[in-house]
Amino acid sequence: MTINQTPITDQLEEFLIAIGPTNNDHIGYVFASAFAFDEPFQQVSKLQALTLKHYILANNVKSVLEVGTFVGFSAFSMASGLSGNRSKITSLEVNEGFHKQALQNQNEYRATGAECDGIIERINFICTDAYPHITEKTDEYSKYDMVFLDGDKENYSLYVQWFIDNAKSGAHLLIDNILFKGSILGDGKYAKGIKRAIETVKSSQQLVHYVVPVGDCMLVVRKK
Ligand SMILES: C[S@@+](CC[C@H](N)C(=O)[O-])C[C@H]1O[C@@H](n2cnc3c(N)ncnc32)[C@H](O)[C@@H]1O
Repeated sequence: MTINQTPITDQLEEFLIAIGPTNNDHIGYVFASAFAFDEPFQQVSKLQALTLKHYILANNVKSVLEVGTFVGFSAFSMASGLSGNRSKITSLEVNEGFHKQALQNQNEYRATGAECDGIIERINFICTDAYPHITEKTDEYSKYDMVFLDGDKENYSLYVQWFIDNAKSGAHLLIDNILFKGSILGDGKYAKGIKRAIETVKSSQQLVHYVVPVGDCMLVVRKK
């Protein structure tokens, strides 16, 4: 039995967020916009969003491909960690309603005229089924520094295999929902899909990986 695992309450999360070098106060309205939908719980936690941003800052990531926009909270947070004129983030979402909300959030951000090196204004939100889209544009996306996988869990292993076959050396792959809200040990289609992806990562000689236990837990993968 694990005895040293501290549950993160909302107050403890606030405490941890306050320790970090930056905050996400400027995009609080994006997080809040998810509550207009039945599934606000789909988005990453505030602490995980900051972890993604700080990961990007620490690793000098300049380009991010996200699978699964929802209303854009993780995309906005990651974009806040990017810097430089040539930085970019492309975020793919299959659901039109979620995609429209992400665009609306982006327009709202533009309207504030807030400074963020121009990246949030330039996030490219695309409404599409991600896997066929990525395979069609492999030449373009294989040049990206990082992929954040947070969309169709049942197909995660396809994306992992695409990453193994096409990503450049040194590229980052962050895979969300490794615990799938605690149901990873069951045999539902999402749990099966996530476990298949973990096995694909583990069995590849071209990848190194470790687990980051934030939010629903992420697998951090790097191509050698
Ligand atoms: C967990 S949510 C993403 C949350 C978002 N990354 C965040 O933290 O703010 C997963 C999203 O993936 C989308 N999705 C599911 N299957 C997809 C597919 N085949 N292509 C693109 N998006 C997909 C869902 O509609 C949903 O909005």
